[in-house]
Amino acid sequence: MKRIAVFVSGGGTNLGAIIKAQSENKLGCGRVALVVSNKADAYALVRAEQAGIKSEVVLKKSFNGQLEFENRLLEILAREKIDLVVLAGFMSILSSHFTKQLENRIINIHPSLIPAFCGEGFYGLNVHKAALEKGVKVSGATVHFVTEECDGGPIILQAAVEVLEGDTPEELQQRIMQQAEWKLLPRAVQLFCDDRLEVVNGSVHIKNEV
Ligand code: GRF
Repeated sequence: MKRIAVFVSGGGTNLGAIIKAQSENKLGCGRVALVVSNKADAYALVRAEQAGIKSEVVLKKSFNGQLEFENRLLEILAREKIDLVVLAGFMSILSSHFTKQLENRIINIHPSLIPAFCGEGFYGLNVHKAALEKGVKVSGATVHFVTEECDGGPIILQAAVEVLEGDTPEELQQRIMQQAEWKLLPRAVQLFCDDRLEVVNGSVHIKNEV
């Protein structure tokens, strides 16, 4: 069994999709062992409680700087014997100190087709506002491995979503969540837990059914 920790900050709809996939035995040998939030009031914590999943709040302001914060996170992951970290709406920077200790064992969901509309400042509704301002006809979501480069790690899965005439950022966000994010993230977790993801020269190869 692969033990998964899901890092959250907000509503937790992506966490919800992972929990639903687990209940439907669609996570392979993965099991969500822990939810970690950097916000005490994240509704994602309610979702974890309702699913009977252990959760822990780690507030950055409780520590003397980024390094202590990240070391606390690493201690928790070691204590819980976590194999995979999933960033699901997690809104806190993780430095190379953290990411290098978990190379190709952290995945993130980003609400655009990377390399479009990603990197510093592109999070939440900002992503969709930029896409609409640019006038793109399709956007979508990307699941990728996490490195110290914001949204720059090897791409695991992507899905395109149509942008409709007159879309608001909120409408586009919802469509991308429903049609892409909530499908891609559980699928990527399943592939990881079934040892079907291989990174070669920065590109992800999905190995055949085992
Ligand atoms: C989603 O748009 C996701 O792409 C981004 O954070 C937003 C909120 O996610 N990473 P959630 O509802 O908290 O899972």
